[in-house]
Amino acid sequence: MGKRVAVIGAGVSGLTSIKACLDEGFEPTCFERSCDIGGLWRFTETVEKGRASIYKSVVTNTSKEMSCFSDFPMPDHFPNYMHNSKFLEYLRLYAKCFDLLKYIRFKTPVIQVEKSKDYLTTGQWVVVTQNEDRQESSIFDAVMICIGHQIEAYIPPLECFPGFEKFKGSYLHSQSYKKPDIFQGKTVVVIGMGNSAADIAVELCHWAKKVVLQHKGGSPG
Ligand SMILES: Cc1cc2nc3c(=O)[nH]c(=O)nc-3n(C[C@H](O)[C@H](O)[C@H](O)COP(=O)(O)OP(=O)(O)OC[C@H]3O[C@@H](n4cnc5c(N)ncnc54)[C@H](O)[C@@H]3O)c2cc1C
Ligand SMILES: *[C@@H]1O[C@H](CO)[C@@H](O)[C@H](O)[C@H]1NC(C)=O
Repeated sequence: MGKRVAVIGAGVSGLTSIKACLDEGFEPTCFERSCDIGGLWRFTETVEKGRASIYKSVVTNTSKEMSCFSDFPMPDHFPNYMHNSKFLEYLRLYAKCFDLLKYIRFKTPVIQVEKSKDYLTTGQWVVVTQNEDRQESSIFDAVMICIGHQIEAYIPPLECFPGFEKFKGSYLHSQSYKKPDIFQGKTVVVIGMGNSAADIAVELCHWAKKVVLQHKGGSPG
């Protein structure tokens, strides 16, 4: 019998891990905490706990040749750099083509992974999942962790911004930024100059009264 593999997460990494397990004759079970595949590429209007979040206008910054799986080229009519909805469409085509959905258990977050009692002889793992109010634990021969990164937003302590206590406006982390319209007519400072900051600042220019891009060093990317 093939080895049983737990794949945690059904984003880009999780999907291709399920496929790789099948190619090797393993038996994958994928646990996904949300209700659908795609990970961060599935845009939602609100931020969901435990899943990275994107804004509505995100377009890939890697070309279609560089972003596709090696065994599944992007359809010819897809643009070279594409909107997030298009990339999600590609992931759906991939999952359908290799019939991956049946291996995924949705709305099933993994809450714990630990070595089994007889790990030294079996090398097995105990994976505990939560499905609504029911906890379940299962034994696997291997675990692939595909839960993504950039899940938790980090806002530096507000003392890092001298004078902040006098600031009367609102502030948010780019993780909760979804659309530019709420900045209509406002004066906005975007702090930092990474990909998201530069992208969001450009988008805000069309809506805000004034946009200032603030950074302390050179551009990181
Ligand atoms: C704004 C932004 C733009 C980007 N643009 C590009 C780009 O253009 N090109 C590129 O190549 N890369 C880009 N990236 C990098 C991106 O990280 C990868 O493209 C890719 O989406 C990561 O996939 P992943 O499967 O590792 O993680 P994710 O897509 O984050 O998926 C992780 C999945 O795991 C699930 N999960 C998390 N915890 C648990 C748990 N405990 N139990 C069960 N399920 C769980 C989540 O619900 C989610 O579905 C971008 C990243 C960001 C943040
Ligand atoms: C694309 O954007 C993501 C998110 O900001 C970043 O992690 C990645 O390095 C970028 N890739 C390129 C090729 O710039």
